[in-house]
Amino acid sequence: MRKIILSFAACLALAAYGQKPVQDTRAMDTFIDQLMGKMTLDEKIGQLNLSGGGVPGILSGSEGADETIRRGWLGATGGSELETFRKLQEIAVKESRLGIPLLFGLDVIHGYHTIFPIPLALSCSWDTTLIEQSARIAAIEASSNGVTWTYSPMVDIARDARWGRIAEGSGEDPWWGGKIAAAMVRGYQGDDLTKENTILSCLKHFALYGASEAGRDYNTVDMSRIKMFNEYFPPYKAAVEAGCATVMSSFNLVEAIPATGNRWLLTDLLRDQWGFNGFVVSDYNSIGEMTNHGLGDTQTVSALALHAGLDMDMMTNGYITTLKKSLEEGRVSQADIDQACRRVLEAKYKLGLFEDPYRYLDADRAKKNTFTDEHMNTARHIAGKSIVLLKNDKGLLPLRKTGTIAVVGPLADKKVELFGTWCGIDTAKSASVVQAVKEMVGNKARVIFAKGCNLTNEPMLAKASGLKVDPVENTRLVKEAVEQVKDADRIIAVMGEPNNWSGEACSRADISLPESQKELLRALLETGKPVVLVLANGRPLTLEWEDSQFSAIVEAWHGGSAAARGLVDVLFGDVNPSGKLTTTFPRSVGQIPLYYNAKKTGRPMNPDDHFTSKYLDITNDPLYPFGYGLSYTTFSYGDLQLDKTSVQGENGVLTASVQVTNTGKLEGEEVVQLYIGDPAASISRPMKELKNFQKISLKPGESRKVSFTITPEDLKFYNSALEYIWEPGLFNIYVGTNSRDVKSAQVTWNK
Ligand code: BGC
Repeated sequence: MRKIILSFAACLALAAYGQKPVQDTRAMDTFIDQLMGKMTLDEKIGQLNLSGGGVPGILSGSEGADETIRRGWLGATGGSELETFRKLQEIAVKESRLGIPLLFGLDVIHGYHTIFPIPLALSCSWDTTLIEQSARIAAIEASSNGVTWTYSPMVDIARDARWGRIAEGSGEDPWWGGKIAAAMVRGYQGDDLTKENTILSCLKHFALYGASEAGRDYNTVDMSRIKMFNEYFPPYKAAVEAGCATVMSSFNLVEAIPATGNRWLLTDLLRDQWGFNGFVVSDYNSIGEMTNHGLGDTQTVSALALHAGLDMDMMTNGYITTLKKSLEEGRVSQADIDQACRRVLEAKYKLGLFEDPYRYLDADRAKKNTFTDEHMNTARHIAGKSIVLLKNDKGLLPLRKTGTIAVVGPLADKKVELFGTWCGIDTAKSASVVQAVKEMVGNKARVIFAKGCNLTNEPMLAKASGLKVDPVENTRLVKEAVEQVKDADRIIAVMGEPNNWSGEACSRADISLPESQKELLRALLETGKPVVLVLANGRPLTLEWEDSQFSAIVEAWHGGSAAARGLVDVLFGDVNPSGKLTTTFPRSVGQIPLYYNAKKTGRPMNPDDHFTSKYLDITNDPLYPFGYGLSYTTFSYGDLQLDKTSVQGENGVLTASVQVTNTGKLEGEEVVQLYIGDPAASISRPMKELKNFQKISLKPGESRKVSFTITPEDLKFYNSALEYIWEPGLFNIYVGTNSRDVKSAQVTWNK
């Protein structure tokens, strides 16, 4: 059938009649050709501009923002108010010369209005269906409120718990990070971007942002390519393969060139090798920051960024103020400007904005779809699934709903503090832990609350978080709490970090619980009463002392709008915990970076041999390894069975099986993990790498054979020539309950 090619004017006319333009690439190309044929240079550069409106030195003040849009100098802007979006879109569509609609971007990181657990916590659910569902709900709510573009998923691999943004990612594993990245892209974008409930996703921060030296945000990064390809790139690549519509460049250097102006990264790798065909946006002022990195003035760095393949300038105003001049001076080409403009217009076309610029701006839909009870129920379910049980030695958990329960600690009666970094906060449907415990036990038990201590008395940390330092008050609070818990049978101590101790620009050099909190914990221990230590935080903490003192420890993370209710579901056993860590918990900050998939050393640690790779004052092993997490039931693993000891060739298939048995008294879920090690290869390979897992549910006494199919695809890595290959030889296969406690067997894989 002949495709009808529509002119821009025809499209608008058809939109007015409620008809759809043809959604295929040829139609899109023709439409954009025609539109670009009418655009002036200024209007083309305008599409590459993402700002709050206004152009420094040219259009200032609040009038400036509207006038920027009227002149066609703005391609996208931020915000979160539907009414503001509508007003701005009306200016763009009705008052600018060509009526090109705006994109509205927002950091919808772990939910829009209904907030899910922080991404690090979500990753501990080991459940891509739930993770995708959280992104889907976020997209439904965001798209109903005018947002057409989320700056998510954040897929940076992080191995340094000091870095506050570890909270925003999926931990340390490249394979699992890739699966999550793809699930989130699917959740946001669905299968059709023109649908009113799907939005553009944006993989970030490309690339290597999570490797900031010393865990200090915005710090420099330096890394070999082989490490990039094997250990840091997989999640970015997976998001591209999942069809992620946009990419955000990172603040840091990649091989001494800022990512934002790095042509190898943004063009050779991202587009030419990986086939990315969306548009690339800078991070907030990251073009401008190239000047600080030492790459030149605003005009120079803007030209560098465009040439590198950076299509849209977020907040530098570098493109809008200098690209025209650079074109006149021959520092950028018309083709580069045209190409970037085309990519931005394509994204708008794919969203269906030319067909109906107001598609995402429907107040009724916003009301109906936002913060619904159904979304909150899902958030509660997911919060429970993201919690990791770190210790339960004496079977203190789950708690009985009887007697007197004391809920103590600086986070025990808080709501906002449990939401986590980077989200809108509406506590209308949230509970504090004290409230949630009361709801859970009803009139079956008495609940006592005591604050017990300040979050911190450390001057710098307190100042950064707007807290008062008051050691005297701390001692008084501790005393009061001890008095108040006198009659309690059990104590739940809710400790950790408030939400503003992790996230952007929230690095900590000391990642232990502050002394003010430890003072309370010591006093609670002295009461001799059973204490459950609940931790709400955005990063791994160093918990060696806590681990030595408490028989029950629960890592609840920052759980979003339903944090407290999700937590009490676990504490009282309505939900049997099944979360597993996706980030290693070090014993001491001095061990960082510490991650399970490390390379071997020439002198592996041997406590009896002085000249081996170790510390004099601490062991090498983590407190809680990657993949670790307990349940209220127990599981036993039989020996690892391989269906052959030697496998032949590219088409060979190996099956690895273990018998897993629920040896406890409750039904529970277990994440059975498959790791592979490549002990002899052309390059030194990690000791083991996660390759697959299965989450199974077993009734008490039930036993199941869990089998994994392994092919050469699972053996592949990037060699010195950066070819993605597998090499024949011996392989170690491991299956287990975490990265440390595994059953193993060996296989030879021949060419
Ligand atoms: C952050 C990004 C974020 C952007 C826009 C930056 O400071 O690094 O992750 O998407 O701001 O808000």
